[in-house]
Amino acid sequence: MLSGGPASVYADGAPRIDAGLFELGVPTLGICYGMQLMARELGGRVDRTGVSEFGKTELRTEEGALFAGLPPAQTCWMSHRDSVVAPPEGARVVAGSSSTPIAAFEDAGRGLYGVQFHPEVVHTPHGTDLLKNFLYSVAEAPPSWTAAAVIEEQVARIRAQVGMERVLCALSGGVDSAVAALLVHKAVGDQLTCVFVDHGLLRRGEAEQVVDAFGRHFHVPLVHVQAQARFLARLAGVEDPEEKRKRIGAEFIRVFEDEATKLGDVRHLVQGTLYSDVIESGGTDGVAATIKSHHNVAGLPADMRMSLVEPLRLLFKDEVRRVGEELGMPEAMVWRQPFPGPGLAIRIIGEVTRERLEILREADAILQEEVRRAGLYRELWQSFAVLPGIRSVGVQGDERTYAYPIVIRAVTSEDAMTADWARLPYDLLETISSRIINEIPGINRVALDISSKPPSTIEWE
Ligand code: XMP
Repeated sequence: MLSGGPASVYADGAPRIDAGLFELGVPTLGICYGMQLMARELGGRVDRTGVSEFGKTELRTEEGALFAGLPPAQTCWMSHRDSVVAPPEGARVVAGSSSTPIAAFEDAGRGLYGVQFHPEVVHTPHGTDLLKNFLYSVAEAPPSWTAAAVIEEQVARIRAQVGMERVLCALSGGVDSAVAALLVHKAVGDQLTCVFVDHGLLRRGEAEQVVDAFGRHFHVPLVHVQAQARFLARLAGVEDPEEKRKRIGAEFIRVFEDEATKLGDVRHLVQGTLYSDVIESGGTDGVAATIKSHHNVAGLPADMRMSLVEPLRLLFKDEVRRVGEELGMPEAMVWRQPFPGPGLAIRIIGEVTRERLEILREADAILQEEVRRAGLYRELWQSFAVLPGIRSVGVQGDERTYAYPIVIRAVTSEDAMTADWARLPYDLLETISSRIINEIPGINRVALDISSKPPSTIEWE
């Protein structure tokens, strides 16, 4: 598949392709820029027609392999300035929109296909069906991906890499490091030691869940470092958000190193790096010799001379979850919403104290409980409580109060790059609000954050 891209095919330095590729008989699907590149290389023509299309667009389609079984009129997502004005020689036009008459072409004989719109985004409702048509029918690539097959393959790879040596894994409580650890444990058993640095900034019940799942259920050798007091001490008096992150990161490394030293000769370090991390860091398949800073472990020092074991390197988040389920990981862990490494500390505006941490943890627990009860937990990218550093006047009983508010933050998102505030039902908001105010001393008001990202961010700090 030749992907989309921001360039114009005629621009200097625009990505090109060796046209010999099209002679190989390998089924090829060009998307947006990829389609235009095909047209240009194969005797068609691409022009800036003066008509650009951005957003939802109505499409009329004709019979062919790509649109087999799909409605002849459908909505798709367009994002282009240039258009194909003449298809490649021998190709048939199979879709068009009002301003782009050539929105898709096929040359079944040579296995060449192109679409101007984006089948890979959610705004093209039949996009996935189109990709399936291409993969299963045209390319005859069967849907053979299964979590069980991934596990089998990774277990073999891990064994080959690690041999009889010892392996270390830092557990964060998140799904990635947990699945990576379980895979390694399946491969090399007790050669693996997991270190769980409990910084005291997790949500209610999360630390217990990690200890319970790993230590008691899966019998993975686990060092549970109770470092709550150390982290609180490092955060005393700190109000600046970046300074908080730095201190938490630095303390994490110190604690982790202390434990690693105690364990003696350990040659390998497990990282829950996902394919999305690999793409973001611009990496290819080469395994980095030093340890890249990774959010799961808050950035480990580059001078820890261990080889990296990254069994999730080729997986996306949803695939990691399926592997986790296959490995028997508890539902609450597999489907956990993303949670930042510095934890609740960056949801407390101003100083992090034991008292304020407890207030936020309680409010957050109520929010989680109610969101789950409403059946919305998996639909939301994240839902959480924030404790701002202000107080306001209230009246409870016959008493005037001067207490903190809690802010409810719930967002929908595909990848956290952009996010929209979730339209939570009023009834749910009411339940959350009254429970938080009634059950938590020190809170007398609940507010709802209705900002999207951008211009806001998901987290408050
Ligand atoms: P923002 O607030 O930038 O967050 O919109 C985007 C996503 O990243 C998560 N996040 C973090 N994750 N360490 C992490 O591991 C961090 O320091 C951190 N800061 C933000 C955030 O929860 C959201 O999913």
